[in-house]
Amino acid sequence: MSHVLVAYGTSRGGTQGLADLIGNDLRGRGHDTVVRAAGDVGELRDVDAVIVAGSLYAGRWHRDARRLVKREAVALSAVPVWLVATGPLDGTAAQGQIPPVKHVADAAERIGARGVQTFGGRLDPDAKGFPASAMAKTSAGDWRDAEHVARWVEQVDGELRALVP
Ligand SMILES: Cc1cc2nc3c(=O)[nH]c(=O)nc-3n(C[C@H](O)[C@H](O)[C@H](O)COP(=O)(O)O)c2cc1C
Repeated sequence: MSHVLVAYGTSRGGTQGLADLIGNDLRGRGHDTVVRAAGDVGELRDVDAVIVAGSLYAGRWHRDARRLVKREAVALSAVPVWLVATGPLDGTAAQGQIPPVKHVADAAERIGARGVQTFGGRLDPDAKGFPASAMAKTSAGDWRDAEHVARWVEQVDGELRALVP
């Protein structure tokens, strides 16, 4: 059994829900998994693998996710890591691979991540603040796709089993 940390950076809670989906799927596949806000993650130790998820705002990966990768770069370089972005408010993420934004690509290169993945996002119809409230008039919805997540976790699980005896 491997110990996996799923860390998330969120502004409106959607990425926390996505991280919970990932965590539940990993547990279902037998991995001892902790899901935690990236800002609350201390020094990394006793983890066999890490998933860092962050939402996308104006093409930028969430600050808490970026900071975690920067702060724990040495530890993250020593274990298998997957970086996750969640954002698109349509079905495109589940239909094909979306190339990572620059922040995610840079973070992946910094720590030698095993993979990067973009999932759909969520925007509440009554989202507060500008420009979210304006965007919500046309783009509100939940595009976090549990089946897409499950397919991806299956792939991660396969790699983990090969990497962590
Ligand atoms: C102001 C604003 C800007 C956004 N910019 C992007 C973007 O550049 N790319 C993208 O894929 N999604 C974008 N989104 C969608 C969010 O990434 C999506 O709502 C996500 O699920 C939010 O995650 P959170 O609830 O964890 O903060 C944007 C949403 C808002 C409200």
